[in-house]
Amino acid sequence: MSMNVLIVGASRGLGLEFVRQYLAAGAKLTATARDEPALSTLRELGATALALDVANAESASRLAWQIDGAAFDVVVVCAGVYGPKTTGLTPPSESEFDTVMRTNVLGPMRVIPQLADALAPGAKLAVISSRMGSIGSRGSTSGWLYRASKAAVNSVLVDASLALAGKAICVAFHPGWVRTDMGGAGADLAPEQSVADLRRVIAGLSRADSGRFLNHDGSAIVW
Ligand SMILES: NC(=O)c1ccc[n+]([C@@H]2O[C@H](COP(=O)([O-])OP(=O)(O)OC[C@H]3O[C@@H](n4cnc5c(N)ncnc54)[C@H](OP(=O)(O)O)[C@@H]3O)[C@@H](O)[C@H]2O)c1
Repeated sequence: MSMNVLIVGASRGLGLEFVRQYLAAGAKLTATARDEPALSTLRELGATALALDVANAESASRLAWQIDGAAFDVVVVCAGVYGPKTTGLTPPSESEFDTVMRTNVLGPMRVIPQLADALAPGAKLAVISSRMGSIGSRGSTSGWLYRASKAAVNSVLVDASLALAGKAICVAFHPGWVRTDMGGAGADLAPEQSVADLRRVIAGLSRADSGRFLNHDGSAIVW
């Protein structure tokens, strides 16, 4: 039986590359995007496309019934925004704070609970976090709002791993610095490489890995 996969935030970047690669591998694919052009692209690729804006309460609340009865083997939450490119201690505006925190933190806090009944036994739930969220390896203050949001979503992921213990293997990932709209043209990795690495690591996850923060090569990152 083919693998059943859900990608949240699949209009472009890493999410879209996950869709391409899992479809090429023969998976049954459900993917979410915010707007109709992106949804129709996903459909053309062969995915079941669901409208979802993780920063919108009403939109996010519709996910559960849209995936009612599904049993996903793999879920990857990719939706994210960077926000202001600050250096040092430049305060974000309230609207910048709201957008980044609602997307990167509240989004997963809305999406993950709705997945609980739509997971196959031993499912793998990956949240694409960032090494920039690591407090233990912090060496720069660039983008401190983004960093705070990824540190917060790491906390959310650990709670998910506890709440879903025995049901799903939950992992936070750093995808590398990747050439997407967010990562920019000068980044280290092609999306194809990052996602190939992540898929390999996801495939090899065991129960003991739940609640860990991993790099795209599978090595551990300090919280
Ligand atoms: N690229 C890197 O170097 C890098 C490094 C570390 C971590 N990450 C993380 O990896 C994830 C994917 O990033 P990326 O590089 O692929 O970025 P990207 O190319 O900028 O894509 C971001 C994706 O998130 C979606 N999104 C944003 N706000 C959303 C919302 N409210 N609801 C639903 N979807 C939303 C976007 O959809 P729209 O098209 O509708 O805007 C888009 O599909 C993010 O969580 C990012 O923080 C990336």
